[in-house]
Amino acid sequence: MTTQSPPAFYNDLAASLDTAWQLWGRGTVDRHSAFHAPVVTSVDESGNPQARTMILRAVDREARTIRFHTDQRTAKMQHWKLNPRVCVLGYDASKKIQLRVGGHVDLHTSDAIADNAWNNSRPESRAAYSVKNVPGHVVDAPGDAPQSSEEGRENFAVAMVEVDSLEWIYLNAGGNRRALFAWQDGVLKSNWLQP
Ligand SMILES: Cc1cc2nc3c(=O)[nH]c(=O)nc-3n(C[C@H](O)[C@H](O)[C@H](O)COP(=O)(O)O)c2cc1C
Repeated sequence: MTTQSPPAFYNDLAASLDTAWQLWGRGTVDRHSAFHAPVVTSVDESGNPQARTMILRAVDREARTIRFHTDQRTAKMQHWKLNPRVCVLGYDASKKIQLRVGGHVDLHTSDAIADNAWNNSRPESRAAYSVKNVPGHVVDAPGDAPQSSEEGRENFAVAMVEVDSLEWIYLNAGGNRRALFAWQDGVLKSNWLQP
């Protein structure tokens, strides 16, 4: 039996943070990546936590943002308008790494950020925004696949997560590693946590 040496980030806070951002970045381009479709939360009007899967569209480490696309008519949009706090969670079972982001959501519906995101979306992605029925409403029949159309633009929104914390967990038989990276007024504090 061979013992695998731990990865370079094992005892290295900065390398763990680098790896975390690389994994989010990979999630934007590799649909097989576990971080391509993380769980994104909101808090509803009654204070109940809500979670759903969303496709990761872009990550900007310098700006500390993570971009998602959604329909303006969805429940989560209403939740975030009342309470923009959000958690983004992903777990890669093959790498044994969990990433948990904390932050707030900035909603973009009719500015250059939304326009650019819409213009760069594929027709298949745009199609979902053309449906006439409000997402989540009860319908008589499940319906056919929607056709892509420019009409969908008015329902399209960018949900930009401004990251203020990132928690890292790496599972390893030789000892798990947990770290918290938190930004306050742009200043990063990095700490190991008891796993
Ligand atoms: C793999 C997968 C990817 C999804 N990606 C998105 C997405 O990028 N944006 C989105 O609004 N909903 C996406 N959904 C649907 C959401 O999970 C959710 O069902 C829907 O947005 C309604 O959520 P809400 O009622 O909480 O607003 C995705 C679902 C799955 C299963």
